[in-house]
Amino acid sequence: MKIFNNISDCVLVVFIISLGVLCNGEEEISVAPMEKTEKEALYYTIQGFVGNWWNGSDLYPDPCGWTPIQGVSCDLYNGFWYVTALNIGPIQDNSLYCAPNPEFKPDLLRLKHLKSLSIFDCFVSPHNHPILIPTDNWELLATNLVSLEFDPTLVSSVKFPLLLLQSLVLLENGLTGELPTNIGNLIKLRRLVLAGSDFRGQIPENFGALFDLLILDLSRNSLSGTLPLNLGTLTSLLKLDLSNNQLEGQIGSEIGNLKNLTLLDLSKNKFSGGLTNSLQELSSLQELDLSNNPIGGDLLSVEWH
Ligand SMILES: *[C@@H]1O[C@H](CO)[C@@H](O)[C@H](O)[C@H]1NC(C)=O
Ligand SMILES: *[C@@H]1O[C@H](CO)[C@@H](O)[C@H](O)[C@H]1NC(C)=O
Repeated sequence: MKIFNNISDCVLVVFIISLGVLCNGEEEISVAPMEKTEKEALYYTIQGFVGNWWNGSDLYPDPCGWTPIQGVSCDLYNGFWYVTALNIGPIQDNSLYCAPNPEFKPDLLRLKHLKSLSIFDCFVSPHNHPILIPTDNWELLATNLVSLEFDPTLVSSVKFPLLLLQSLVLLENGLTGELPTNIGNLIKLRRLVLAGSDFRGQIPENFGALFDLLILDLSRNSLSGTLPLNLGTLTSLLKLDLSNNQLEGQIGSEIGNLKNLTLLDLSKNKFSGGLTNSLQELSSLQELDLSNNPIGGDLLSVEWH
Protein backbone atom coordinates (compact mmCIF):
# COMPACT_ATOMS: atom_id res chain seq x y z
CA MET A 1 0.00 0.00 0.00
CA LYS A 2 2.79 2.33 1.07
CA ILE A 3 4.62 1.67 -2.19
CA PHE A 4 1.56 2.53 -4.24
CA ASN A 5 1.17 5.78 -2.36
CA ASN A 6 4.74 6.68 -3.12
CA ILE A 7 4.25 5.89 -6.77
CA SER A 8 1.16 8.05 -7.05
CA ASP A 9 2.93 10.89 -5.22
CA CYS A 10 5.74 10.56 -7.62
CA VAL A 11 3.39 10.58 -10.61
CA LEU A 12 1.73 13.70 -9.21
CA VAL A 13 5.08 15.44 -8.83
CA VAL A 14 6.08 14.53 -12.38
CA PHE A 15 2.70 15.73 -13.59
CA ILE A 16 3.09 19.10 -11.84
CA ILE A 17 6.59 19.51 -13.18
CA SER A 18 5.47 18.82 -16.74
CA LEU A 19 2.55 21.22 -16.27
CA GLY A 20 5.11 23.86 -15.27
CA VAL A 21 7.11 23.18 -18.40
CA LEU A 22 3.98 23.50 -20.52
CA CYS A 23 3.09 26.82 -18.94
CA ASN A 24 6.57 28.16 -19.51
CA GLY A 25 6.40 26.97 -23.09
CA GLU A 26 3.16 28.82 -23.68
CA GLU A 27 4.53 31.95 -22.10
CA GLU A 28 7.49 31.89 -24.41
CA ILE A 29 5.24 31.64 -27.44
CA SER A 30 2.95 34.47 -26.33
CA VAL A 31 5.86 36.87 -25.98
CA ALA A 32 7.35 35.96 -29.35
CA PRO A 33 8.63 39.18 -30.88
CA MET A 34 7.48 40.88 -34.02
CA GLU A 35 9.83 42.81 -36.25
CA LYS A 36 9.29 46.57 -36.09
CA THR A 37 9.01 46.78 -39.87
CA GLU A 38 6.31 44.10 -39.94
CA LYS A 39 4.34 45.81 -37.20
CA GLU A 40 4.56 49.21 -38.89
CA ALA A 41 3.58 47.79 -42.25
CA LEU A 42 0.49 46.31 -40.61
CA TYR A 43 -0.41 49.56 -38.84
CA TYR A 44 0.02 51.72 -41.96
CA THR A 45 -1.91 49.26 -44.12
CA ILE A 46 -4.89 49.19 -41.77
CA GLN A 47 -4.75 52.93 -41.19
CA GLY A 48 -4.98 53.45 -44.94
CA PHE A 49 -8.22 51.48 -45.06
CA VAL A 50 -9.94 52.59 -41.87
CA GLY A 51 -8.73 56.20 -41.55
CA ASN A 52 -6.11 58.23 -39.74
CA TRP A 53 -7.97 58.19 -36.42
CA TRP A 54 -6.90 54.57 -36.07
CA ASN A 55 -3.59 54.50 -34.22
CA GLY A 56 -2.37 50.92 -34.13
CA SER A 57 0.68 51.41 -31.91
CA ASP A 58 -1.59 53.03 -29.31
CA LEU A 59 -4.52 50.63 -29.55
CA TYR A 60 -2.77 47.36 -30.37
CA PRO A 61 0.84 47.42 -29.18
CA ASP A 62 1.09 43.62 -29.52
CA PRO A 63 -1.11 42.77 -32.52
CA CYS A 64 -0.11 39.10 -32.72
CA GLY A 65 -0.02 38.61 -28.95
CA TRP A 66 -2.15 39.98 -26.13
CA THR A 67 -3.85 42.79 -28.14
CA PRO A 68 -5.17 40.93 -31.18
CA ILE A 69 -6.81 42.93 -33.97
CA GLN A 70 -10.10 41.60 -35.31
CA GLY A 71 -9.53 40.31 -38.85
CA VAL A 72 -5.78 39.89 -38.45
CA SER A 73 -4.17 36.46 -38.10
CA CYS A 74 -0.53 35.76 -37.43
CA ASP A 75 1.85 32.84 -37.56
CA LEU A 76 5.31 32.15 -36.22
CA TYR A 77 8.26 31.91 -38.57
CA ASN A 78 11.72 31.41 -37.08
CA GLY A 79 10.55 32.72 -33.72
CA PHE A 80 8.94 35.89 -35.06
CA TRP A 81 5.30 36.76 -35.59
CA TYR A 82 4.17 37.60 -39.10
CA VAL A 83 0.76 38.60 -40.42
CA THR A 84 -0.78 35.81 -42.49
CA ALA A 85 -4.36 37.01 -42.98
CA LEU A 86 -5.97 40.41 -43.19
CA ASN A 87 -9.73 40.93 -43.50
CA ILE A 88 -11.28 44.36 -43.75
CA GLY A 89 -15.03 44.86 -43.98
CA PRO A 90 -18.14 43.39 -42.36
CA ILE A 91 -17.15 39.75 -42.01
CA GLN A 92 -17.05 39.22 -38.25
CA ASP A 93 -18.39 41.15 -35.27
CA ASN A 94 -16.07 44.03 -34.37
CA SER A 95 -14.55 43.89 -37.84
CA LEU A 96 -12.54 46.82 -39.10
CA TYR A 97 -14.53 48.91 -41.53
CA CYS A 98 -13.24 51.02 -44.38
CA ALA A 99 -13.32 54.79 -44.14
CA PRO A 100 -15.30 56.73 -46.77
CA ASN A 101 -12.03 57.60 -48.48
CA PRO A 102 -9.84 54.56 -48.04
CA GLU A 103 -6.33 54.40 -49.30
CA PHE A 104 -4.48 51.34 -50.54
CA LYS A 105 -1.08 51.70 -48.87
CA PRO A 106 1.90 50.08 -50.58
CA ASP A 107 2.99 48.97 -47.07
CA LEU A 108 0.60 46.09 -47.60
CA LEU A 109 3.09 44.55 -49.99
CA ARG A 110 5.66 44.46 -47.18
CA LEU A 111 3.60 41.84 -45.32
CA LYS A 112 5.53 39.11 -47.03
CA HIS A 113 3.96 36.17 -45.20
CA LEU A 114 0.43 37.21 -46.10
CA LYS A 115 -1.60 34.23 -47.32
CA SER A 116 -5.06 35.68 -47.44
CA LEU A 117 -6.30 39.19 -48.13
CA SER A 118 -10.01 40.06 -48.17
CA ILE A 119 -11.38 43.54 -48.49
CA PHE A 120 -15.15 43.94 -48.59
CA ASP A 121 -17.51 46.91 -48.76
CA CYS A 122 -14.68 49.31 -49.13
CA PHE A 123 -14.69 51.15 -52.39
CA VAL A 124 -18.39 51.51 -52.94
CA SER A 125 -18.56 53.30 -56.24
CA PRO A 126 -15.85 54.08 -58.76
CA HIS A 127 -17.28 57.53 -59.26
CA ASN A 128 -17.29 58.51 -55.61
CA HIS A 129 -13.91 57.20 -54.65
CA PRO A 130 -11.61 56.46 -57.53
CA ILE A 131 -8.87 54.44 -55.94
CA LEU A 132 -5.67 53.01 -57.26
CA ILE A 133 -4.25 49.71 -56.19
CA PRO A 134 -0.50 49.83 -56.55
CA THR A 135 0.02 47.57 -59.53
CA ASP A 136 3.74 47.00 -59.02
CA ASN A 137 5.51 44.76 -56.57
CA TRP A 138 2.72 42.28 -56.00
CA GLU A 139 5.35 39.63 -56.70
CA LEU A 140 6.62 40.40 -53.18
CA LEU A 141 3.58 38.47 -51.97
CA ALA A 142 3.83 35.78 -54.60
CA THR A 143 5.49 33.13 -52.46
CA ASN A 144 2.64 32.96 -49.95
CA LEU A 145 -0.57 34.60 -51.09
CA VAL A 146 -3.18 31.95 -51.83
CA SER A 147 -6.37 33.96 -51.47
CA LEU A 148 -7.17 37.42 -52.76
CA GLU A 149 -10.70 38.72 -52.44
CA PHE A 150 -11.96 42.18 -53.23
CA ASP A 151 -15.59 43.13 -53.16
CA PRO A 152 -14.96 46.81 -53.72
CA THR A 153 -15.18 48.76 -56.90
CA LEU A 154 -11.60 49.27 -57.78
CA VAL A 155 -10.72 51.47 -60.69
CA SER A 156 -7.57 49.67 -61.46
CA SER A 157 -6.28 46.22 -62.15
CA VAL A 158 -3.76 44.13 -60.35
CA LYS A 159 -1.09 42.48 -62.38
CA PHE A 160 -0.98 38.79 -61.65
CA PRO A 161 2.45 37.43 -60.79
CA LEU A 162 0.86 35.53 -57.90
CA LEU A 163 1.54 32.02 -59.10
CA LEU A 164 0.44 30.31 -55.89
CA LEU A 165 -3.01 31.87 -55.82
CA GLN A 166 -5.75 29.32 -55.25
CA SER A 167 -8.58 31.77 -54.97
CA LEU A 168 -9.04 34.97 -56.93
CA VAL A 169 -12.29 36.76 -56.27
CA LEU A 170 -12.79 40.21 -57.76
CA LEU A 171 -16.52 40.76 -57.41
CA GLU A 172 -18.26 43.82 -58.78
CA ASN A 173 -15.11 45.80 -59.27
CA GLY A 174 -16.09 48.02 -62.16
CA LEU A 175 -13.18 46.47 -64.03
CA THR A 176 -13.32 46.71 -67.79
CA GLY A 177 -11.31 45.71 -70.85
CA GLU A 178 -10.47 42.16 -71.88
CA LEU A 179 -9.93 39.42 -69.32
CA PRO A 180 -6.20 39.39 -68.56
CA THR A 181 -4.73 36.33 -70.28
CA ASN A 182 -2.07 36.00 -67.60
CA ILE A 183 -4.78 34.77 -65.25
CA GLY A 184 -4.43 31.59 -67.31
CA ASN A 185 -0.93 31.20 -65.79
CA LEU A 186 -2.30 30.91 -62.27
CA ILE A 187 -2.44 27.16 -62.57
CA LYS A 188 -3.09 26.54 -58.86
CA LEU A 189 -6.39 28.40 -58.97
CA ARG A 190 -9.33 26.52 -57.55
CA ARG A 191 -11.74 29.42 -57.48
CA LEU A 192 -11.88 32.19 -60.06
CA VAL A 193 -14.69 34.71 -59.63
CA LEU A 194 -14.62 37.82 -61.81
CA ALA A 195 -18.35 38.43 -61.78
CA GLY A 196 -20.26 41.67 -61.95
CA SER A 197 -17.72 43.87 -63.69
CA ASP A 198 -17.64 45.03 -67.28
CA PHE A 199 -15.15 42.63 -68.83
CA ARG A 200 -15.39 42.46 -72.62
CA GLY A 201 -14.12 40.32 -75.45
CA GLN A 202 -13.63 36.57 -75.53
CA ILE A 203 -12.90 34.15 -72.71
CA PRO A 204 -9.16 33.54 -73.17
CA GLU A 205 -8.24 30.12 -74.59
CA ASN A 206 -5.58 29.65 -71.93
CA PHE A 207 -8.17 29.53 -69.14
CA GLY A 208 -8.38 25.92 -70.35
CA ALA A 209 -5.06 25.30 -68.58
CA LEU A 210 -6.57 25.89 -65.13
CA PHE A 211 -6.95 22.18 -64.48
CA ASP A 212 -7.52 22.52 -60.74
CA LEU A 213 -10.39 24.96 -61.10
CA LEU A 214 -13.48 24.02 -59.09
CA ILE A 215 -15.47 27.24 -59.49
CA LEU A 216 -15.44 29.49 -62.54
CA ASP A 217 -17.79 32.46 -62.31
CA LEU A 218 -17.54 35.07 -65.05
CA SER A 219 -21.21 36.01 -64.86
CA ARG A 220 -22.62 39.52 -65.23
CA ASN A 221 -20.02 40.95 -67.58
CA SER A 222 -20.06 41.86 -71.27
CA LEU A 223 -18.11 38.88 -72.58
CA SER A 224 -18.74 37.98 -76.20
CA GLY A 225 -17.71 35.42 -78.80
CA THR A 226 -18.01 31.67 -78.55
CA LEU A 227 -17.08 29.35 -75.70
CA PRO A 228 -13.41 28.33 -75.81
CA LEU A 229 -13.12 24.88 -77.38
CA ASN A 230 -10.84 23.68 -74.60
CA LEU A 231 -13.40 24.41 -71.90
CA GLY A 232 -13.86 20.65 -71.75
CA THR A 233 -10.38 20.24 -70.26
CA LEU A 234 -11.52 21.80 -66.98
CA THR A 235 -12.65 18.43 -65.73
CA SER A 236 -12.44 19.33 -62.03
CA LEU A 237 -15.11 22.02 -62.35
CA LEU A 238 -18.02 21.86 -59.93
CA LYS A 239 -19.63 25.19 -60.85
CA LEU A 240 -19.58 27.03 -64.13
CA ASP A 241 -21.49 30.30 -64.26
CA LEU A 242 -21.21 32.36 -67.44
CA SER A 243 -24.71 33.83 -67.20
CA ASN A 244 -25.55 37.42 -68.14
CA ASN A 245 -23.03 37.96 -70.92
CA GLN A 246 -23.17 38.26 -74.71
CA LEU A 247 -21.74 34.83 -75.45
CA GLU A 248 -22.92 33.26 -78.69
CA GLY A 249 -22.63 30.25 -80.96
CA GLN A 250 -23.35 26.64 -80.14
CA ILE A 251 -22.83 25.02 -76.75
CA GLY A 252 -20.27 22.50 -77.93
CA SER A 253 -20.11 18.81 -77.14
CA GLU A 254 -16.90 19.33 -75.11
CA ILE A 255 -19.14 20.47 -72.26
CA GLY A 256 -19.94 16.79 -71.74
CA ASN A 257 -16.43 16.22 -70.32
CA LEU A 258 -17.26 18.15 -67.18
CA LYS A 259 -18.42 15.07 -65.31
CA ASN A 260 -18.21 16.65 -61.85
CA LEU A 261 -20.21 19.74 -62.74
CA THR A 262 -23.10 20.31 -60.33
CA LEU A 263 -24.12 23.77 -61.56
CA LEU A 264 -24.17 25.01 -65.15
CA ASP A 265 -25.62 28.47 -65.69
CA LEU A 266 -25.43 29.84 -69.22
CA SER A 267 -28.62 31.88 -68.98
CA LYS A 268 -29.06 35.35 -70.49
CA ASN A 269 -26.62 34.98 -73.35
CA LYS A 270 -27.02 34.57 -77.12
CA PHE A 271 -26.33 30.86 -77.46
CA SER A 272 -28.03 29.26 -80.44
CA GLY A 273 -27.84 26.17 -82.61
CA GLY A 274 -29.81 23.75 -80.45
CA LEU A 275 -28.90 21.64 -77.45
CA THR A 276 -25.99 19.28 -77.56
CA ASN A 277 -26.56 15.66 -76.65
CA SER A 278 -23.52 15.78 -74.43
CA LEU A 279 -25.53 17.65 -71.80
CA GLN A 280 -26.82 14.24 -70.81
CA GLU A 281 -23.27 13.17 -69.97
CA LEU A 282 -23.15 15.68 -67.13
CA SER A 283 -23.88 12.99 -64.59
CA SER A 284 -23.35 15.15 -61.48
CA LEU A 285 -25.48 18.07 -62.62
CA GLN A 286 -27.99 19.38 -60.09
CA GLU A 287 -28.77 22.79 -61.55
CA LEU A 288 -28.95 23.70 -65.22
CA ASP A 289 -30.06 27.12 -66.40
CA LEU A 290 -30.08 27.88 -70.10
CA SER A 291 -32.94 30.36 -69.98
CA ASN A 292 -33.02 33.50 -72.08
CA ASN A 293 -31.00 32.19 -74.98
CA PRO A 294 -32.23 31.85 -78.56
CA ILE A 295 -31.16 28.20 -78.45
CA GLY A 296 -33.73 26.75 -80.81
CA GLY A 297 -33.99 23.05 -81.52
CA ASP A 298 -36.04 20.95 -79.15
CA LEU A 299 -35.72 19.28 -75.79
CA LEU A 300 -36.65 15.88 -77.19
CA SER A 301 -33.24 15.42 -78.77
CA VAL A 302 -31.69 15.13 -75.30
CA GLU A 303 -32.37 12.05 -73.24
CA TRP A 304 -33.01 13.38 -69.75
CA HIS A 305 -32.16 10.84 -67.12
C1 LIG B 1 0.14 57.02 -32.50
O1 LIG B 1 0.26 57.48 -31.17
C2 LIG B 1 1.60 57.64 -30.73
C3 LIG B 1 1.60 58.01 -29.26
O2 LIG B 1 0.35 58.21 -28.74
C4 LIG B 1 2.30 58.67 -31.58
O3 LIG B 1 3.64 58.82 -31.17
C5 LIG B 1 2.26 58.22 -33.02
O4 LIG B 1 2.83 59.20 -33.87
C6 LIG B 1 0.83 57.95 -33.49
N1 LIG B 1 0.91 57.33 -34.80
C7 LIG B 1 0.15 57.71 -35.82
C8 LIG B 1 0.41 57.00 -37.09
O5 LIG B 1 -0.71 58.56 -35.73
C1 LIG C 1 -14.55 14.21 -59.60
O1 LIG C 1 -15.06 13.94 -58.30
C2 LIG C 1 -14.58 12.74 -57.74
C3 LIG C 1 -15.32 12.51 -56.44
O2 LIG C 1 -15.33 13.66 -55.66
C4 LIG C 1 -13.08 12.84 -57.55
O3 LIG C 1 -12.57 11.65 -57.00
C5 LIG C 1 -12.43 13.10 -58.90
O4 LIG C 1 -11.05 13.30 -58.72
C6 LIG C 1 -13.04 14.32 -59.56
N1 LIG C 1 -12.53 14.46 -60.90
C7 LIG C 1 -11.72 15.45 -61.25
C8 LIG C 1 -11.25 15.43 -62.67
O5 LIG C 1 -11.40 16.31 -60.48
